[in-house]
Amino acid sequence: MTDHIPASALERAHHEYYEHARGIDDATSRVRALRRFNNWVKSVLISEYAMQGFTVLDLCCGKGGDLPKYKFARIAFYVGVDLSKKCIQEAKERYSQLNLGFEALLIAGDVADTEITIDSIVRNDFDIEYDLVSCQFALNYILESEMRLRRFLNNVSEKLKPGGVVIGTVPDCNVLVKKLRTCGQSMTFGNKYYSVRFNKTSFPRSEGAFGLKYGFYLEGSVGNIIQRQEGVEIEYVPENLVIMEQVEIIAREYDLELIYKKNFHDLYLDFKNKYEKLLKIRMNDCSMDEDQWDIAYLYSAFVFRKRGEFKRPPRNSHAGNNVNIRYMRDDEID
Ligand SMILES: C[S@@+](CC[C@H](N)C(=O)[O-])C[C@H]1O[C@@H](n2cnc3c(N)ncnc32)[C@H](O)[C@@H]1O
Repeated sequence: MTDHIPASALERAHHEYYEHARGIDDATSRVRALRRFNNWVKSVLISEYAMQGFTVLDLCCGKGGDLPKYKFARIAFYVGVDLSKKCIQEAKERYSQLNLGFEALLIAGDVADTEITIDSIVRNDFDIEYDLVSCQFALNYILESEMRLRRFLNNVSEKLKPGGVVIGTVPDCNVLVKKLRTCGQSMTFGNKYYSVRFNKTSFPRSEGAFGLKYGFYLEGSVGNIIQRQEGVEIEYVPENLVIMEQVEIIAREYDLELIYKKNFHDLYLDFKNKYEKLLKIRMNDCSMDEDQWDIAYLYSAFVFRKRGEFKRPPRNSHAGNNVNIRYMRDDEID
């Protein structure tokens, strides 16, 4: 990892990873309990904020792993956007194999593109405002610059109904920096499943709050282990620190108010009783060891609300009243 990774290299590295994700099967993954816990967190957010008849915009939707979670909320319509065409293709396949009871558009595009607007990415045939926007485990890729954050927030705010919410999950900057402060000169910390590597120990205000890079490796999910003659080398994926206090300040300019932000450990305490059954179902036969629980501590969840009065859609609403929605458009894939 170098000090300044140009956006294109960053995108390439990130892209490469997702394009060729090895996708270790959940059953054989050593961190499957963590994955299931992360999914429980997302299910909690979706259960708390998505309602029947909702239109949902999932920014950085990946392979559509959250699609089934919206079935239970009985939403009306889902749009998923992701940079990776491969991910979108897989999301389409997943969608077509499931009977979810709502229609979906799955589109490849950059949700923080500074040249083009979200409207030209989604290119809806109708002007639709969303009841809920989701951005899960992805803001750390978007925050390469303030300009990209602003474009992202502008897109979100433009597409969200007054009073609508944005739900998300993100690496917890405070925890990352706290751990960095205790790891000494190596600027590297982790456990048997993950590793984080910084290339500096302090982040002066004068250098700004965006594009602050660190390298991340998580077994079976992010980065690689490379076997070399000299020994094992970790191939880190570059990510950007998400200083939520800064995001919060800028988000206000786009009418978005932070209404909830909790580290996963605290979110667990907030919701473990209310969603106990769901947690049991999700975790099934596995439980998290201490090291996986320590990884959960690296993340936090957030909720923003757009100013204004929320008008809930009628329960039987359909996003495209009088409009012929095209199922899962194929023209977006080369
Ligand atoms: C860690 S994955 C999370 C996927 C999904 N949200 C989930 O929770 O399973 C991050 C995703 O963000 C996507 N991504 C990163 N930067 C993006 C951008 N600028 N625009 C759209 N998608 C992006 C990646 O392609 C990847 O699929």
